[in-house]
Amino acid sequence: MTAEPARAAALTLEVAERVAESAAVVSLRLRAAAGELPPFLPGQHLPLRLNLPERSLATYTISSDPGDLSAYRLSVKLEPGGKGGSRHLHGLQPGDQLQAEVPRGRFVLQEDDRPVLLLTGGIGITPALSMLHALARQPDRPVVFLHACRSRDDLCFAEELAGLEARMPGLTRITVFAEGSAADLETARCQHLGLIDRALLRRLLPLDAWQAYLCGPDGFMAAMRAALASLGLPDGEIRQESFGGAPAPVPAAPAARAAGATADAPTIRFARSGTEAVWDGSQPSLLDFAEAQGLSPDFSCRAGICGSCACRRLDGETEHTEELIDSPPEGEILLCCSVPKGDVVLDL
Ligand code: FES
Repeated sequence: MTAEPARAAALTLEVAERVAESAAVVSLRLRAAAGELPPFLPGQHLPLRLNLPERSLATYTISSDPGDLSAYRLSVKLEPGGKGGSRHLHGLQPGDQLQAEVPRGRFVLQEDDRPVLLLTGGIGITPALSMLHALARQPDRPVVFLHACRSRDDLCFAEELAGLEARMPGLTRITVFAEGSAADLETARCQHLGLIDRALLRRLLPLDAWQAYLCGPDGFMAAMRAALASLGLPDGEIRQESFGGAPAPVPAAPAARAAGATADAPTIRFARSGTEAVWDGSQPSLLDFAEAQGLSPDFSCRAGICGSCACRRLDGETEHTEELIDSPPEGEILLCCSVPKGDVVLDL
């Protein structure tokens, strides 16, 4: 499965169960209100329509076993100020319904038998949980799961992880508490105190031929990526998903585009809506430009991370203004960080 174009088919989901995983994290098991749930790949997220003023879709990673389609489990951390829909989701109770799109996302576990490093921070554990359930079907495959959190109060899913560990002889699980104690080590709540750094990675891992999956706050991932690279892991073997909290600021318009319309300014045609307008360089991206024409493309992060704004380019050339973590499939662009290089026709 790959990133979906905008306006994928809608699902009506119903909360089947609500579980408090910690003081800040709640898991919701969501089943189909009618029919069956579409399949998902380990690591993909579920776009929810929560009617938030700041984004049309709020995306949450599915933390459950991809082999169990009786429900999707979302595990949601209550963000400061209840941002991004987390307060709404924390307030849901069994029987409540919500609207979603089909699961999407390209941060997915690769299907082969190479050793895997899952390196997660905080609530970035959620895609790793889904990946571990998938990896449990290859129990001897070497897997190192290295998870960092602040303290024992923030540690979630301990029982579920212990169950996976018991079924997976190839799994090495190491939990790191930034603010732990000797008692945490003695009781095996964690195996390391402090931070995950290059020295710890070097001690734990022979990194040749490994695939690494990083998920956590942006600063955590930047540090982990740099440490792995310095230990010789090729950049192409490192995949990552941001759980950075607040959306990144909208990228600034390239200077060459900021000067206003000229005689040879590109024409942007939105084929499905029959709308056409001249790109005058005043908008930072094709997403902003489409909105300025009265269109409502899907979006969430507005930073080239979530894939919600993926759109098919029917004709013409565009360029991405951000360095993308994960490129969209051939023929699609991420509207939130794309500008035209000439006349363009979009499937919108
Ligand atoms: S809105 Fe998230 S990638 Fe564009």
